[in-house]
Amino acid sequence: MIDTDNWRERFSDSMMGSLAAPMAMLQRGEGAHVWDVDGTRYLDFLAGIAVNALGHAHPVLVEAVSNQVATLAHVSNYFASPPQLELAERLLRITGAGSEGRVFFCNSGAEAIEAGIKLARLNRGGGERTRILSLVNSFHGRTMGSLSLTGKPALREAFEPLLPGVEHIPSTIEALEAAMDGTVSAIFIEPIKGEAGVLDLPDGFLKRARELATEHGALLILDEIQTGIGRTGTWFAFQQHGIVPDAIALAKGIAGGVPIGALVTFGWASELFQPGQHGTTFGGNPLATAAGNAVLGEIERAGLIENAAHLGERLRSIIEAMGSPLITEIRGQGALVGLGLSKPVAGEIVAAAFANGLIINAPNASSIRIAPPLISGEAELEEFRQIFAAVLEAQS
Ligand SMILES: Cc1ncc(COP(=O)(O)O)c(C=O)c1O
Repeated sequence: MIDTDNWRERFSDSMMGSLAAPMAMLQRGEGAHVWDVDGTRYLDFLAGIAVNALGHAHPVLVEAVSNQVATLAHVSNYFASPPQLELAERLLRITGAGSEGRVFFCNSGAEAIEAGIKLARLNRGGGERTRILSLVNSFHGRTMGSLSLTGKPALREAFEPLLPGVEHIPSTIEALEAAMDGTVSAIFIEPIKGEAGVLDLPDGFLKRARELATEHGALLILDEIQTGIGRTGTWFAFQQHGIVPDAIALAKGIAGGVPIGALVTFGWASELFQPGQHGTTFGGNPLATAAGNAVLGEIERAGLIENAAHLGERLRSIIEAMGSPLITEIRGQGALVGLGLSKPVAGEIVAAAFANGLIINAPNASSIRIAPPLISGEAELEEFRQIFAAVLEAQS
């Protein structure tokens, strides 16, 4: 039995002060539920921030990881492995990148973005492409490169100076048109800004970004770390915008909780990296890629992409039916739902939901984020409805 006594003190005495105090200590999970060390059960409608696509302890993932760790867990980049190639080929198929695409495996979202930044640097033209664009209020990760792209000054300031040449522009077509020219090597865009409160882009924004990137020889790199892997009702959010990017950064849901990230390139962008220019010890190891194959295979087999779209529609109609004056806007796509609030009480709502057995999240004081596991069904939606309606009622 693992010792869980005095865990809050032990956390602050042992863990780096970079993290805020945790909400609880969780001990186990099953399906869309988790239990804390006191045995209290929660409906997990955050799914580890859009990671646990199959929920917790899904038998398909448990079996795949158990078998792989008992067979071959890690080999280094000096060797290939069957699950690695299977996952790369699967990603090329579901992204539509196909035979002209390529996959780089890493271990997190930030690392997938780092690979994208190096790709941007390789797209120099004759040396004139020195600028990288990203969006105000975006989130791309916490490493120095990905933080340079992150459009939240409060997260960046303590760590400046960051990467030179990065500019943050507002999410408007006018700002995009004004900023794009032949000095831009890449533009990084989240199709929906999850960490900013699940903010949608203006209509036509991605299409215009695609046109301008093509016109000026820049790479269009989409950060689908939060929106990818079926969550928005298609494998990837860009597939709902009628465009093809030059690269997408992935992580979170790929392996259902086993750490993994990937940069998938399309077309000419696949030819930029040369042997020896990038790598990472763990990236694409047999264990993580076997987990990825299990998760993506199960998403396809069980129709979880269609379920994500359905979950999104049901969540929206359930929340609308609550008729709460606190909720001014329902944002996002599929099973990535953001609620705009009339008052900055998101923290209080999340705390009250948690006290009543529901895990949701407040990306900021005026936004709630809901990202259920893609396996959720009517029973979980009803449990959500009951708890959330009572919480909103008490807050109004
Ligand atoms: C859109 C987006 N990009 C990048 C990241 C960074 O991913 P990671 O935390 O795995 O480094 C996140 C994480 O929340 C994200 O939501």
